[in-house]
Amino acid sequence: MHRIVANRRLSPNVIRLDVEAPRIAEIRQAGQFVIVRRGPKAERIPLTIADADAAAGTIALVIQAVGKSTRELTALQPGESIQDISGPLGMPTELIEKGRAVCVGGGVGTAVVHPIAQSLHKRGVHVTSVIGGRAKEWVIFEQELRQLGDVVVCTDDGSYGRKGFVTDATKDLLTAGGIDIVYAVGPVPMMRAVSNLTRPFGVHTIVSLNPVMVDGTGMCGGCRVEVGGKTKFACVDGPEFDGHLVDFDLLADRLSTYRIQEKAALDHPDGTCRVGL
Ligand code: FAD
Ligand code: NAD
Ligand code: FES
Repeated sequence: MHRIVANRRLSPNVIRLDVEAPRIAEIRQAGQFVIVRRGPKAERIPLTIADADAAAGTIALVIQAVGKSTRELTALQPGESIQDISGPLGMPTELIEKGRAVCVGGGVGTAVVHPIAQSLHKRGVHVTSVIGGRAKEWVIFEQELRQLGDVVVCTDDGSYGRKGFVTDATKDLLTAGGIDIVYAVGPVPMMRAVSNLTRPFGVHTIVSLNPVMVDGTGMCGGCRVEVGGKTKFACVDGPEFDGHLVDFDLLADRLSTYRIQEKAALDHPDGTCRVGL
């Protein structure tokens, strides 16, 4: 059992849970994730390790409440527990050793770029984070990222920082030049847009893919994605890949496969409705 030590709201539907998981806190690397099962009958869901405190033996999970499992997890209070946390899973982030990196985070994806920015900063890489939210209250991890380098905040409605998508600010940085690598995590259309932006500049771009996962060990094929014309399993080959090679259409298509079942699970959290199952 993994005890919740803190539950903090970061935005209207995003909660940060600090959870006891000492072994994972000690060995996790940027880019890795865990698979969490809240209780005996719960679904297994993948969540990025957004931060860790090895001394305290805790990891931070930053969770956007979008469906049944994420709503249940974000409702957990200090003292309550998560039954299983498997990990760390996935390949660690491909990091540069020197130079200049831009870390682009869209919405809750900002929590996923945070450990990448942490590791780059530790190596002495100059980090500029471009982070975005629909409006001021949706911007997360700004203070944490400011400790690691420059931060450009964007909001869709202009209520805070620069008005517009994160792609607008990223384009300006690319045009100014001197960028060695871009890391982008957020909604699929955003990761696609960032990859399309960097391609003509010839800047290597890494995106973190979020297909539906089941076992997280490369056996079920649920997380199949296509990269450079080859089938990859995001749980063991990724979740980070070269954005210039990812088939984003296939990813978006596969992410919508279980819409009917996901809605049924949300409408009938006791499991009584079998619509679409
Ligand atoms: P469901 O009922 O399963 O789905 C509700 C809605 O969310 C549907 O619209 C559905 O299409 C969409 N959805 C379902 N699964 C995903 C998915 N994998 N990605 C995007 N949309 C999805 N979420 C976080 O909030 N924080 C994280 O740090 C985080 N890290 C992730 C790391 C990896 C490697 C992967 C693969 C996913 C990550 N996700 C993260 C997404 C998270 O796993 C899903 O949001 C979650 O499984 C949804 O479960 P649910 O039962 O609440 O919603
Ligand atoms: P959102 O829809 O509020 O968008 C956040 C920001 O992304 C916007 O403010 C904007 O700056 C940018 N953006 C959105 N659409 C864009 C587009 N078409 N072009 C350019 N920029 C765009 O984000 P949200 O509701 O917080 O959702 C975050 C997304 O991140 C979810 O779709 C989730 O699946 C994904 N996610 C991915 C991972 C991963 O590991 N890859 C982990 C967690 C979440
Ligand atoms: Fe089963 Fe990746 S989640 S193969």
